[in-house]
Amino acid sequence: MRKQKIIIAIDGYASTGKSTQAKKIAQKLDYVYIDSGAMYRAVTLYAMRENILEESKTNILIKSLEDINIEFKRSNNAQKIYLNGEEVENDIRKSIINSNVSRLAMIPEIRNFLFKRQRNYGKNKGLVMDGRDIGTVVFPNAECKFFFNAIQSVRAKRRYLEQYKKGNNEKYSQVLENIIERDRIDTNRSLNPLRKSSDAVEIDVSDLTENQVFKTLWEYISKKIN
Ligand code: CDP
Repeated sequence: MRKQKIIIAIDGYASTGKSTQAKKIAQKLDYVYIDSGAMYRAVTLYAMRENILEESKTNILIKSLEDINIEFKRSNNAQKIYLNGEEVENDIRKSIINSNVSRLAMIPEIRNFLFKRQRNYGKNKGLVMDGRDIGTVVFPNAECKFFFNAIQSVRAKRRYLEQYKKGNNEKYSQVLENIIERDRIDTNRSLNPLRKSSDAVEIDVSDLTENQVFKTLWEYISKKIN
């Protein structure tokens, strides 16, 4: 019998390994994977490149939203994000983007612009999406919802090492500071703040390996698709 296609939402704090797990699940199930945070990052990169990143230029950015085209495409067996036709996977992870993305993610017009696009990806189910408000707002009826947390120093260490391997020499203290600041903005914003959906499974990943987290997720998911 054909397995039932579902929507899997993974939300949680910055740098808890949501994307790593979401990718693995999507690969195992042959589902579409969408990194909603990358979409907020792409809008931030666009604003930076157009010189409209300052708060005083928010209105110009809002008016330019329809000029922003975001796509996900596979190349060399990895999924990459494209901004107006250009692959920007590395550019959206830079520290200037980290420092500005949560402020732009508070703006209702930007959230609404991305929300519509995110919703669209779920039309045919068979989707894994990670972010901050996927289980609460984008797909409140998702069949499987997870919420990741971990202590801040563990998350900062992970992100620091990840960046270091890419040749980025941002200091550990800066990485930690940015994670603390993004958590603060993401949980306190008035529109769709980061919070656990009441029906989400919460996982503290602080002391778990990648494989242990995957096993935990898979236990829940396998019950839903059979
Ligand atoms: O990968 P990391 O945990 O660093 O963050 P991300 O998923 O790339 O998201 C970057 C930022 O986008 C977050 O800190 C939020 O401010 C915003 N975001 C959001 O508001 N809603 C989402 N569904 C996803 C991301």
